[in-house]
Amino acid sequence: MGSTFYSSLTKKYVMSLAGLFLMTFLFVHLAINLLLLFDDSRGLFNQVAHFMGTNPFIQTFQWVLFGGFIIHMIFGVILQIQNWMARPKRYKKKAVSEDNYFSKFMIHTGIVIGIFLVIHLTDFFLKKIGGTVPEIHHGNLAGMEDMGILVFEKFKMIGYVIFYVVALVILGFHLDHAFQSAFQSLGLNHKKYTPVIKWLSHFVAIVLAVGYISIPVCIYFFK
Ligand code: HEM
Repeated sequence: MGSTFYSSLTKKYVMSLAGLFLMTFLFVHLAINLLLLFDDSRGLFNQVAHFMGTNPFIQTFQWVLFGGFIIHMIFGVILQIQNWMARPKRYKKKAVSEDNYFSKFMIHTGIVIGIFLVIHLTDFFLKKIGGTVPEIHHGNLAGMEDMGILVFEKFKMIGYVIFYVVALVILGFHLDHAFQSAFQSLGLNHKKYTPVIKWLSHFVAIVLAVGYISIPVCIYFFK
Protein backbone atom coordinates (compact mmCIF):
# COMPACT_ATOMS: atom_id res chain seq x y z
CA MET A 1 0.00 0.00 0.00
CA GLY A 2 2.74 2.43 1.06
CA SER A 3 4.95 1.52 -1.87
CA THR A 4 2.00 1.88 -4.29
CA PHE A 5 1.36 5.34 -2.87
CA TYR A 6 4.99 6.38 -3.25
CA SER A 7 5.31 4.89 -6.72
CA SER A 8 2.26 6.81 -7.88
CA LEU A 9 3.76 9.95 -6.36
CA THR A 10 6.95 9.26 -8.32
CA LYS A 11 4.91 8.80 -11.48
CA LYS A 12 3.14 12.12 -10.86
CA TYR A 13 6.50 13.78 -10.31
CA VAL A 14 8.02 12.40 -13.51
CA MET A 15 4.83 13.14 -15.43
CA SER A 16 4.83 16.75 -14.26
CA LEU A 17 8.47 17.28 -15.20
CA ALA A 18 7.85 15.70 -18.61
CA GLY A 19 4.74 17.88 -19.05
CA LEU A 20 6.62 21.10 -18.25
CA PHE A 21 9.37 20.05 -20.64
CA LEU A 22 6.77 19.42 -23.38
CA MET A 23 5.36 22.90 -22.76
CA THR A 24 8.75 24.49 -23.43
CA PHE A 25 8.81 22.54 -26.70
CA LEU A 26 5.34 23.92 -27.52
CA PHE A 27 6.62 27.51 -27.18
CA VAL A 28 9.64 26.88 -29.43
CA HIS A 29 7.54 24.97 -31.98
CA LEU A 30 4.97 27.79 -32.02
CA ALA A 31 7.63 30.48 -32.51
CA ILE A 32 9.06 28.60 -35.51
CA ASN A 33 5.62 27.93 -37.03
CA LEU A 34 4.58 31.58 -36.66
CA LEU A 35 7.35 32.45 -39.13
CA LEU A 36 4.98 31.11 -41.79
CA LEU A 37 2.61 34.02 -41.13
CA PHE A 38 5.24 36.74 -41.29
CA ASP A 39 7.20 35.69 -44.35
CA ASP A 40 5.12 34.90 -47.43
CA SER A 41 8.11 33.43 -49.27
CA ARG A 42 8.30 30.74 -46.51
CA GLY A 43 12.10 31.09 -46.81
CA LEU A 44 12.67 31.89 -43.14
CA PHE A 45 10.51 28.99 -41.95
CA ASN A 46 12.15 26.56 -44.37
CA GLN A 47 15.61 27.68 -43.31
CA VAL A 48 14.84 27.17 -39.62
CA ALA A 49 13.09 23.82 -40.34
CA HIS A 50 16.17 22.75 -42.32
CA PHE A 51 18.47 23.76 -39.45
CA MET A 52 16.29 21.87 -36.94
CA GLY A 53 16.21 18.85 -39.23
CA THR A 54 19.96 18.67 -39.78
CA ASN A 55 21.60 19.94 -36.59
CA PRO A 56 23.00 16.87 -34.73
CA PHE A 57 22.25 18.31 -31.28
CA ILE A 58 18.61 18.99 -32.16
CA GLN A 59 18.33 15.63 -33.89
CA THR A 60 19.40 13.89 -30.67
CA PHE A 61 17.17 16.15 -28.63
CA GLN A 62 14.21 15.11 -30.79
CA TRP A 63 14.39 11.59 -29.32
CA VAL A 64 14.38 13.07 -25.80
CA LEU A 65 11.26 14.96 -26.86
CA PHE A 66 9.52 11.83 -28.17
CA GLY A 67 10.56 10.04 -24.96
CA GLY A 68 8.99 12.89 -22.98
CA PHE A 69 5.70 12.51 -24.85
CA ILE A 70 5.67 8.73 -24.39
CA ILE A 71 6.49 8.83 -20.65
CA HIS A 72 3.91 11.57 -20.06
CA MET A 73 1.20 9.62 -21.89
CA ILE A 74 1.97 6.18 -20.40
CA PHE A 75 2.16 7.50 -16.82
CA GLY A 76 -0.96 9.57 -17.38
CA VAL A 77 -2.93 6.49 -18.47
CA ILE A 78 -1.57 4.33 -15.60
CA LEU A 79 -2.36 6.99 -12.97
CA GLN A 80 -5.86 7.48 -14.34
CA ILE A 81 -6.55 3.72 -14.27
CA GLN A 82 -5.24 3.51 -10.69
CA ASN A 83 -7.45 6.44 -9.80
CA TRP A 84 -10.54 4.83 -11.35
CA MET A 85 -9.83 1.55 -9.59
CA ALA A 86 -9.34 3.21 -6.20
CA ARG A 87 -12.27 5.60 -6.35
CA PRO A 88 -15.32 3.37 -5.77
CA LYS A 89 -13.74 1.80 -2.67
CA ARG A 90 -12.11 4.76 -1.02
CA TYR A 91 -13.73 7.93 -2.21
CA LYS A 92 -17.31 9.01 -2.06
CA LYS A 93 -16.44 12.28 -3.78
CA LYS A 94 -14.25 12.95 -6.78
CA ALA A 95 -10.55 13.13 -5.93
CA VAL A 96 -9.81 16.04 -8.22
CA SER A 97 -9.52 19.74 -7.60
CA GLU A 98 -12.99 21.13 -8.15
CA ASP A 99 -11.93 24.69 -8.88
CA ASN A 100 -10.84 23.85 -12.40
CA TYR A 101 -13.57 22.33 -14.55
CA PHE A 102 -11.09 20.77 -17.00
CA SER A 103 -9.25 18.88 -14.28
CA LYS A 104 -11.91 16.15 -14.55
CA PHE A 105 -11.21 15.64 -18.23
CA MET A 106 -7.41 15.46 -18.37
CA ILE A 107 -7.41 11.85 -19.59
CA HIS A 108 -10.03 12.62 -22.26
CA THR A 109 -8.34 15.78 -23.54
CA GLY A 110 -5.01 13.94 -23.33
CA ILE A 111 -6.30 11.11 -25.54
CA VAL A 112 -7.53 13.63 -28.14
CA ILE A 113 -4.09 15.31 -28.14
CA GLY A 114 -2.46 11.87 -28.54
CA ILE A 115 -4.64 11.14 -31.59
CA PHE A 116 -3.94 14.63 -32.96
CA LEU A 117 -0.21 14.02 -32.52
CA VAL A 118 -0.28 10.73 -34.47
CA ILE A 119 -2.10 12.44 -37.38
CA HIS A 120 0.16 15.51 -37.14
CA LEU A 121 3.39 13.49 -37.17
CA THR A 122 2.14 11.32 -40.05
CA ASP A 123 1.37 14.43 -42.11
CA PHE A 124 4.59 16.36 -41.46
CA PHE A 125 7.35 14.58 -39.59
CA LEU A 126 7.00 11.15 -41.24
CA LYS A 127 6.78 12.75 -44.71
CA LYS A 128 10.10 14.40 -44.00
CA ILE A 129 11.68 11.18 -42.70
CA GLY A 130 10.23 9.36 -45.72
CA GLY A 131 11.74 11.94 -48.10
CA THR A 132 8.42 12.82 -49.74
CA VAL A 133 8.48 16.59 -49.04
CA PRO A 134 8.70 18.73 -52.22
CA GLU A 135 12.11 20.28 -52.85
CA ILE A 136 12.86 23.98 -53.39
CA HIS A 137 14.26 24.50 -56.89
CA HIS A 138 15.17 28.18 -57.01
CA GLY A 139 17.22 30.71 -55.07
CA ASN A 140 19.72 30.20 -52.26
CA LEU A 141 17.52 27.56 -50.58
CA ALA A 142 17.55 25.31 -53.67
CA GLY A 143 17.82 21.67 -52.68
CA MET A 144 16.18 22.12 -49.26
CA GLU A 145 12.82 20.59 -48.41
CA ASP A 146 9.84 22.95 -48.72
CA MET A 147 8.17 22.07 -45.38
CA GLY A 148 6.28 25.37 -45.61
CA ILE A 149 4.40 24.41 -48.78
CA LEU A 150 3.30 21.21 -47.06
CA VAL A 151 1.74 23.22 -44.21
CA PHE A 152 0.10 25.65 -46.69
CA GLU A 153 -1.39 22.78 -48.74
CA LYS A 154 -2.94 21.21 -45.63
CA PHE A 155 -4.32 24.48 -44.26
CA LYS A 156 -6.04 25.34 -47.53
CA MET A 157 -8.46 22.45 -46.79
CA ILE A 158 -11.37 23.55 -44.60
CA GLY A 159 -11.84 20.09 -43.02
CA TYR A 160 -8.21 20.05 -41.97
CA VAL A 161 -8.44 23.58 -40.54
CA ILE A 162 -11.54 22.64 -38.50
CA PHE A 163 -9.80 19.50 -37.20
CA TYR A 164 -6.78 21.57 -36.10
CA VAL A 165 -8.87 24.29 -34.47
CA VAL A 166 -10.92 21.74 -32.47
CA ALA A 167 -7.80 19.78 -31.42
CA LEU A 168 -5.97 22.96 -30.44
CA VAL A 169 -8.89 24.25 -28.35
CA ILE A 170 -8.78 20.91 -26.52
CA LEU A 171 -5.01 21.30 -26.14
CA GLY A 172 -5.72 24.68 -24.52
CA PHE A 173 -8.14 23.08 -22.01
CA HIS A 174 -5.54 20.39 -21.22
CA LEU A 175 -2.79 22.98 -20.66
CA ASP A 176 -5.07 25.19 -18.59
CA HIS A 177 -5.10 22.60 -15.82
CA ALA A 178 -1.75 20.95 -16.65
CA PHE A 179 0.52 23.86 -15.78
CA GLN A 180 -0.93 24.53 -12.32
CA SER A 181 -1.29 20.82 -11.62
CA ALA A 182 2.39 20.21 -12.41
CA PHE A 183 3.43 22.73 -9.76
CA GLN A 184 1.09 21.11 -7.26
CA SER A 185 2.45 17.61 -8.01
CA LEU A 186 5.98 18.89 -7.55
CA GLY A 187 4.96 20.09 -4.10
CA LEU A 188 5.34 23.77 -5.01
CA ASN A 189 2.32 24.94 -3.07
CA HIS A 190 2.29 28.30 -1.39
CA LYS A 191 -0.57 30.49 -0.16
CA LYS A 192 0.93 33.51 -1.86
CA TYR A 193 2.22 31.97 -5.11
CA THR A 194 -0.43 29.37 -5.94
CA PRO A 195 -2.96 31.99 -7.18
CA VAL A 196 -0.20 33.49 -9.38
CA ILE A 197 0.59 30.04 -10.80
CA LYS A 198 -3.11 29.47 -11.52
CA TRP A 199 -3.30 32.80 -13.32
CA LEU A 200 -0.11 31.96 -15.24
CA SER A 201 -1.62 28.60 -16.16
CA HIS A 202 -4.61 30.30 -17.84
CA PHE A 203 -2.25 32.72 -19.56
CA VAL A 204 0.05 29.98 -20.93
CA ALA A 205 -2.93 27.92 -22.15
CA ILE A 206 -4.49 30.91 -23.93
CA VAL A 207 -1.22 32.09 -25.52
CA LEU A 208 -0.38 28.61 -26.82
CA ALA A 209 -3.89 27.72 -28.01
CA VAL A 210 -4.56 31.10 -29.68
CA GLY A 211 -1.04 31.17 -31.13
CA TYR A 212 -1.36 27.72 -32.71
CA ILE A 213 -4.95 28.30 -33.88
CA SER A 214 -3.93 31.53 -35.62
CA ILE A 215 -1.73 29.54 -38.04
CA PRO A 216 -4.35 27.36 -39.84
CA VAL A 217 -6.94 30.17 -39.62
CA CYS A 218 -4.66 32.86 -41.08
CA ILE A 219 -3.34 30.56 -43.79
CA TYR A 220 -6.86 29.49 -44.81
CA PHE A 221 -8.36 33.00 -44.90
CA PHE A 222 -5.49 35.36 -45.68
CA LYS A 223 -2.65 33.58 -47.49
C1 HEM B 1 -0.75 25.01 -36.35
C2 HEM B 1 -0.10 24.21 -35.61
C3 HEM B 1 1.12 23.42 -36.00
C4 HEM B 1 1.89 23.45 -37.15
C5 HEM B 1 1.73 24.33 -38.38
C6 HEM B 1 2.94 22.46 -36.99
C7 HEM B 1 3.91 22.17 -37.94
C8 HEM B 1 4.82 21.15 -37.83
C9 HEM B 1 5.79 20.79 -38.85
C10 HEM B 1 5.92 21.46 -40.21
C11 HEM B 1 6.53 19.75 -38.36
C12 HEM B 1 7.71 19.05 -39.06
C13 HEM B 1 8.96 19.79 -38.71
C14 HEM B 1 10.18 19.20 -39.33
O1 HEM B 1 10.44 18.02 -39.10
O2 HEM B 1 10.87 19.95 -40.03
C15 HEM B 1 6.06 19.46 -37.03
C16 HEM B 1 6.58 18.50 -36.20
C17 HEM B 1 6.14 18.23 -34.93
N1 HEM B 1 5.06 18.81 -34.29
FE1 HEM B 1 3.94 20.33 -35.01
N2 HEM B 1 2.80 21.87 -35.74
C18 HEM B 1 1.70 22.41 -35.11
C19 HEM B 1 1.19 22.09 -33.86
C20 HEM B 1 1.72 21.13 -33.02
C21 HEM B 1 1.22 20.81 -31.70
C22 HEM B 1 0.03 21.49 -31.04
C23 HEM B 1 2.02 19.82 -31.20
C24 HEM B 1 1.95 19.13 -29.88
C25 HEM B 1 0.85 18.90 -29.22
C26 HEM B 1 3.02 19.52 -32.21
C27 HEM B 1 4.00 18.57 -32.06
C28 HEM B 1 4.95 18.25 -33.02
C29 HEM B 1 6.00 17.29 -32.84
C30 HEM B 1 6.25 16.46 -31.57
C31 HEM B 1 6.75 17.28 -34.02
C32 HEM B 1 7.99 16.40 -34.33
C33 HEM B 1 9.23 17.06 -33.81
C34 HEM B 1 9.73 18.12 -34.73
O3 HEM B 1 9.88 17.87 -35.93
O4 HEM B 1 10.02 19.23 -34.25
N3 HEM B 1 2.81 20.33 -33.29
N4 HEM B 1 5.01 20.31 -36.73
